Amino acid sequence: MFSRRSFVPPGDNELSALHRRNPGPHLDWSLANPTRVGLERPDFAAILGRGRGPYVPDPRGWRPAREAVADIYRGRGVDLGADDVVLTASTSEAYSYLLTTLCDPGDAIAVPEPSYPLFEHLARLQAVEVVRYRLAYDGAWHLDPESLARIVGPRVRAIFAVSPNNPTGSFLKPDELERLWGFGVPVVVDEVFRPYRWSTFEGPIAEPLARAPVLTCVLDGLSKRIGAPELKLGWIALAGPQEEEALRRLEYVADTFLSVSSPVQRALPELLRAGEPFRALLMERIERNLAALRTATAGSPVTVLHGEGGWYATLRLPAVLDEPAWLEELLRRERLAPHPGWLFDFEQGPSFVVSLILPEAEFADASRRLVACATRRCS
Ligand SMILES: Cc1ncc(COP(=O)(O)O)c(C=O)c1O
Repeated sequence: MFSRRSFVPPGDNELSALHRRNPGPHLDWSLANPTRVGLERPDFAAILGRGRGPYVPDPRGWRPAREAVADIYRGRGVDLGADDVVLTASTSEAYSYLLTTLCDPGDAIAVPEPSYPLFEHLARLQAVEVVRYRLAYDGAWHLDPESLARIVGPRVRAIFAVSPNNPTGSFLKPDELERLWGFGVPVVVDEVFRPYRWSTFEGPIAEPLARAPVLTCVLDGLSKRIGAPELKLGWIALAGPQEEEALRRLEYVADTFLSVSSPVQRALPELLRAGEPFRALLMERIERNLAALRTATAGSPVTVLHGEGGWYATLRLPAVLDEPAWLEELLRRERLAPHPGWLFDFEQGPSFVVSLILPEAEFADASRRLVACATRRCS
């Protein structure tokens, strides 16, 4: 009676089983909800209220709002206009619009590994398969070009990248983007964490829309850029050959749903401006938490993997226990609940992903408890 793509396995998965065996309260060290991290946010509801006005049923989005998005890229020296932008209700929705536009059922997309676990689900809902290219770690994360060459074949309709990647925090570099383009299929780059570049990273970052030799789409939105996932607004910015045809098709998909609310579109220029101080607060917190993590783990059995930006840090623990056993220990003895690496398909473990946007005192305490736990286990 039901479709295969809506299948949800019954019962517990490995993570929920572990949590059930080790009931809380735990410190949720994976918390990524910026509305719950104790930082004062602008009164977004009041700004939305000023977005009053008639319904705007433009499938690409209200033009002044698209203009405000284009300004972001122009501010980075990219020649982009309102006509190169399509608004969506979220970045996730932008992904699904692009999958509908680029892929038929049974086609595939190439995505990085380790990376954002939602790829699998977004693709499955569109009856699209995911094939994975490798991000390799040798003290920094790099795209493994051979792994890409192995998987990109006729069924692969687009290559996706996340810059900086969730959770590795690695930016897509200009030479890596050239390699993606070299396959001649559309390239989609998720830049939701791009404004959160860590001060320790000075290297160059790919600018996907500056000179696109193939159809290239950049995804972003309010969820991370101004820490307002509840406002439900994302976008796709496009460049490159066949952009016009892509836009015509995206317009058709968007027109079928018209899912972006008019108040948020009308308020977008002001929301983007008003969100800047909050983003700065988040960034300061991320830098402070990173410093605390590095101090707490120095000379300990816990390694903080190299990162360059974003809201997460990846930790590697000694292989005296496997990942589920480490997680059980952290849940039971330390009341800590980080994200286990298996959610992101890390090649090497045991790995854990922790959120850097937690309040500083909680974060420092969690870091100390983790190090104490690892030290005890290793001694
Ligand atoms: C890499 C990445 N892209 C997109 C999203 C989702 O953004 P949105 O709330 O706009 O769907 C997330 C959410 O965590 C994310 O980590």
